[in-house]
Amino acid sequence: MSTPAPKAADTGRFGLGLSGKLLGLTVAFVMMAEVLIYVPSVANFRLNWLNDRLSAAYTAALVFETAGDREVPESVARQILASIGARAVALKMGQQRRLLAASDMPPAINHDVDMRDMTWHRAIIEAFQTLFSAKSDVMRVVGPAPMGEFVEIVADEAPLRAAMVNFSIRILILSLIISAVTATLVYLALHLLLVRPMRQMTANMLAFRAEPENPARIIAASNRRDEIGMAERELAAMQGDLAALLAQKSRLAALGLAVSKINHDLRNLLTSAQLFSERLAKVADPHVQRFSPQLMRALERAIAFCQSTLSYGRVQEPPPDRRMVALEEVAQDVRETLGLDESAPVRWISAIERGLMVDADPDQLFRILLNLARNAVQALESREVKHPGQDQIRITGRREGAVVVIEVSDTGPGLPERARAHLFEAFQGSTRPGSAGLGLAIAAELVRAHGGDIRLVEGTIGATFRITIPDRAVSLDARRGQRASA
Ligand SMILES: Nc1ncnc2c1ncn2[C@@H]1O[C@H](COP(=O)(O)OP(=O)(O)OP(=O)(O)O)[C@@H](O)[C@H]1O
Ligand SMILES: [Mg+2]
Repeated sequence: MSTPAPKAADTGRFGLGLSGKLLGLTVAFVMMAEVLIYVPSVANFRLNWLNDRLSAAYTAALVFETAGDREVPESVARQILASIGARAVALKMGQQRRLLAASDMPPAINHDVDMRDMTWHRAIIEAFQTLFSAKSDVMRVVGPAPMGEFVEIVADEAPLRAAMVNFSIRILILSLIISAVTATLVYLALHLLLVRPMRQMTANMLAFRAEPENPARIIAASNRRDEIGMAERELAAMQGDLAALLAQKSRLAALGLAVSKINHDLRNLLTSAQLFSERLAKVADPHVQRFSPQLMRALERAIAFCQSTLSYGRVQEPPPDRRMVALEEVAQDVRETLGLDESAPVRWISAIERGLMVDADPDQLFRILLNLARNAVQALESREVKHPGQDQIRITGRREGAVVVIEVSDTGPGLPERARAHLFEAFQGSTRPGSAGLGLAIAAELVRAHGGDIRLVEGTIGATFRITIPDRAVSLDARRGQRASA
């Protein structure tokens, strides 16, 4: 049809389909959640590690205490310290702070850790400090002691760091496994629930677009009860409507084509009939003289009818060439064209605001008003009982801000039911034999081309049509220009 349809496998700039994007996002989100979990748990891991060392140190301190003044052999002290992983252990009881055992003391302490008043944010910060500490760093750890004020150890930081790195690697591997499993499950679920039906729908839309008149291309909606099911059902309904509409349109188009062909030939036949009847009119026979003007008129009307039907089918109205037009002048033209002078049985009343200008195409505005006024004249003339001197056509015009409102009304019988039901539809509303039923349709088309509106006013004597024509929007720049030049 119009533009070439995109390929179904067209999956965006990076070649990632919906499923690929979902997979990537799921992995990213799970990893993000794991990071949030990792930060407090690594801090907690470190606190536990340190507490373990402190309680081991405390137990050892009690052993040293019971030894009392007796010297603990140096080799035993070393073994105990090595098992705790400390270089020195001290215990404070009462007023004394006692260094219970010490192997080779380091030259300096790099970090002080006080476990007695540990807050969670300090625990997290210190955990990262440990992770990024130097290999030879030494720390002093102070913790509460059940019997005594505190227990204190001096230890190398490297083993703690190694344990924490180990823990981090385990967490990382675990996170990777969890994200892989979660991502796979989420991916499968989304693929089955969303991506696959979406793909089917997309494929169907492409197929339907390629051949919208084929009812076999309408999607078969599943009976899912969720949003996807709803979308499928709506799509199916929409495609059904569209297919039906298109079928009807193409039937009408074919019909229209046939009618225009018939019309074309008919007009030629009628034209030759007109020639014959002109010759016939020259025959002196009184019967011929009596009927030939009627024959001529009927033929003329038939030709005009063919002509207007043909031109409606073929001509697309050109866009209006708008300028400021005096409505009074256009109305006067219409009046003259319809031959409604002072002596005519129908009175013409013009109630247009003085100097009213309409922003419209003058020819099209003329055609709009002529169609409405001619209908009014025909309606008044078609009545069996005539009211000479009372029949009138009234045209009013006024400006309401940026909109001009024009009304054409008459004192005729009003619109018949059939015309009301098919108001402004071509070929449908005519109730007059020999007329095409195009006047109102053409008027409406022209008014709408001006961005305006036409409608039948209810509850009036006769028929009243109200037209609104808005002025063209003036861009701010143009206005500024006008003001500057004024
Ligand atoms: N002012 C009116 N009063 C009563 N009936 C009207 C009036 N204007 C229109 N109608 C009805 O609406 C029908 C449709 O009008 P429309 O102008 O579209 O077609 P038409 O006058 O029948 O044919 P055409 O204008 O193409 O020669 C008319 O046949 C007529 O019955
Ligand atoms: Mg008409």
